[in-house]
Amino acid sequence: MREAGSLSRRIIRSMVSLALVTTLLSLLGSYAFYAVWFLLSPGSFPDADSAGSYWLPTPLEWGWMALTIAVALGAALLFALKLSKPIVAPLNAVAESLRQVAQGNLSVRAGGDENPHGEAAQLVRDFNAMAERLERMDHERRFWNAAIAHELRTPVTVLRGRLQGLTEGVFEPSPALFCSLLTQVEGLGRLIEDLRLLGLAENGRLELRQELTDLEAEVTAVVRAIEPSLQEAGFTVSCHVDAQQVLCDPVRMRQALLALLENALRHAVPGPLRIQVRILGGNCHLLVEDCGPGVPDTLAAQIFEAFQRGASHGHGSGLGLAVVQAIARAHGGDVICRPSMLGGTAFDLCWPV
Ligand SMILES: Nc1ncnc2c1ncn2[C@@H]1O[C@H](COP(=O)(O)OP(=O)(O)O)[C@@H](O)[C@H]1O
Ligand SMILES: [Mg+2]
Repeated sequence: MREAGSLSRRIIRSMVSLALVTTLLSLLGSYAFYAVWFLLSPGSFPDADSAGSYWLPTPLEWGWMALTIAVALGAALLFALKLSKPIVAPLNAVAESLRQVAQGNLSVRAGGDENPHGEAAQLVRDFNAMAERLERMDHERRFWNAAIAHELRTPVTVLRGRLQGLTEGVFEPSPALFCSLLTQVEGLGRLIEDLRLLGLAENGRLELRQELTDLEAEVTAVVRAIEPSLQEAGFTVSCHVDAQQVLCDPVRMRQALLALLENALRHAVPGPLRIQVRILGGNCHLLVEDCGPGVPDTLAAQIFEAFQRGASHGHGSGLGLAVVQAIARAHGGDVICRPSMLGGTAFDLCWPV
């Protein structure tokens, strides 16, 4: 506040000094002009009875000079106030908000400016945009921390309970029990791996091992791995691969396709499940379509955010589609979710080839 106050005082002081200097210069200038004229050609001043009377201004002239100076100073003061207000007010607002942001209050915003086109208004807008971004990042960080803690807690609690039961002899050691322990550990491992991938992708450091890939072979391998579960649940899988060798990271593509198929298994109603690969307009499209119940339009854009789950979420962590999106974007492409001709959802993963 003090800096802004001194800035406005400095603007006023400079303007008033400028006005004073200009007025004095013009007064003294005309004084000097008439003096030189008189000295060079006294005949031009016939009424002058003695030279001395010309050198000193008359009381009327003194008054005129004082009035001119006063009016000039008044006008300068007025203009300085008018000039400093639109500069100083937004500066003040930004400085005050900045201080609050530094103290940890990220919800603060700087006040508006009457002139929405000035540079000062742009400063306020930029500051507010920065504060908003900071607040959103802070919110996301808190949300992530809470979500990760929540996701880790469940399997760890289950593991501890079972292991405690085993040590205390409450549970009989059996292959089924060890199998369930292993499932929990695998779930934890996957969660950690998904988080690691998303962390790398966020920092732009998700490295791909791109090579010319026979997508038909990759798709078949993934489908073969999950087909028994899909068939058992009542899905009929159809595959159409209409692409030869395509440049991509085969391991990541398998991971993405597996996540999409697992989602169908977990969230879609049993029925036809269609997988298609085709090249369209320089992009390779990997399409997975199911026959219902679909993702509501309102959720379709957010569904790819981490920990975002829809109405049917089963026991998933909500990271599957975020991982698919990270893989698509690392390939320079993207993934969208739209209604499918089959009546459910179509996930369309595409990347330039
Ligand atoms: N094929 C699908 N049909 C309907 N809803 C789906 C489908 N795939 C995903 N979803 C919705 O999207 C949400 C996010 O999916 P995902 O990120 O894989 O998390 P998760 O599967 O762990 O819940 C799911 O919770 C589900 O509600
Ligand atoms: Mg999933």
